Amino acid sequence: MRSEVAVILVTGATGNVGRHLVDLLLQAGERVRAISRNPERAGLPDGVEVVRADLSSPDDLRAALRGARRAYLFPAAGQVRGFLDEAKRAGVEHVVLLSALAVNMKQSGVIGSLHAEYEQAVTESGLPWTFLRPGAFMANDLRWAPGVKNGGVVQAPFAEAATAPIDERDIAAVAARTLLEDGHAGKAYELTGPASLTTTERVRILGEVLGRELRLEELSPEEARAQMIPQTPAPVVESMLTLFASFVGQVAEVSPAVRQLTGRDPYPYADWAARNAAAFR
Ligand SMILES: NC(=O)c1ccc[n+]([C@@H]2O[C@H](COP(=O)([O-])OP(=O)(O)OC[C@H]3O[C@@H](n4cnc5c(N)ncnc54)[C@H](OP(=O)(O)O)[C@@H]3O)[C@@H](O)[C@H]2O)c1
Repeated sequence: MRSEVAVILVTGATGNVGRHLVDLLLQAGERVRAISRNPERAGLPDGVEVVRADLSSPDDLRAALRGARRAYLFPAAGQVRGFLDEAKRAGVEHVVLLSALAVNMKQSGVIGSLHAEYEQAVTESGLPWTFLRPGAFMANDLRWAPGVKNGGVVQAPFAEAATAPIDERDIAAVAARTLLEDGHAGKAYELTGPASLTTTERVRILGEVLGRELRLEELSPEEARAQMIPQTPAPVVESMLTLFASFVGQVAEVSPAVRQLTGRDPYPYADWAARNAAAFR
């Protein structure tokens, strides 16, 4: 572990991964600064300095990065290069980028190409970097909560598409390691959960954890597109649908990285479901 007490900046600190990362860094005794566009609503723990900043504002970032030596970068769309310019000016010595497994998937469309662009921007910045490339987050299934609450129905496309979804706590645990230990610069880590699971299997496990039978209503790609378009940019929707179609009938690869980097197995889906059960009740 490094011994100096310099600031570690956490962007995306109120998000799925960032919130857990803040907790882990505080537990490790680090000086943590978190950014949020709404600090008054951030709900972050005592002991973290919360600074109002938008990743699109160089002035905000200049203030937020003062004294920071390490940073976790959540790539808010299109805002990576501006962050990197300010991070260099501030003397940041290591950036850990939240990227995506999709950078290495040929069929990943805009999701893969955007994350590849973020990685390229980081590489070109000249700053020492580590890339975290997680696959599908378990947290994505929180979108099922309204249907589960109101009638026990999950609507989703591609019932037999398999992924090895990862608990956001595992991504945060790896992020913390790579920020706190030496030896991770120039490395890209592919991160998954412990098992290949189809949508059908996740719905079954969630039902078991909640103690009720859930019904999976398989949507056609057209129905899924219509549901997703209001919240998600159209090219991202197409990229997601193409990816998920390609996962049908496959067994998702399970990465050993979480175990190798944290010394423990990644959390199983049932554990995630139990911890998040309240959201579905
Ligand atoms: N979901 C998946 O399956 C998956 C798979 C692979 C990779 N990923 C990557 O993971 C990312 C999502 O990570 P996450 O789930 O931890 O994050 P998240 O829950 O989507 O939220 C991240 C936080 O970033 C902040 N934020 C958003 N725009 C901002 C801006 N312009 N300036 C400053 N802060 C901003 C928001 O906080 P405030 O409102 O407090 O400012 C938000 O709470 C994706 O975007 C993708 O890059 C996701």
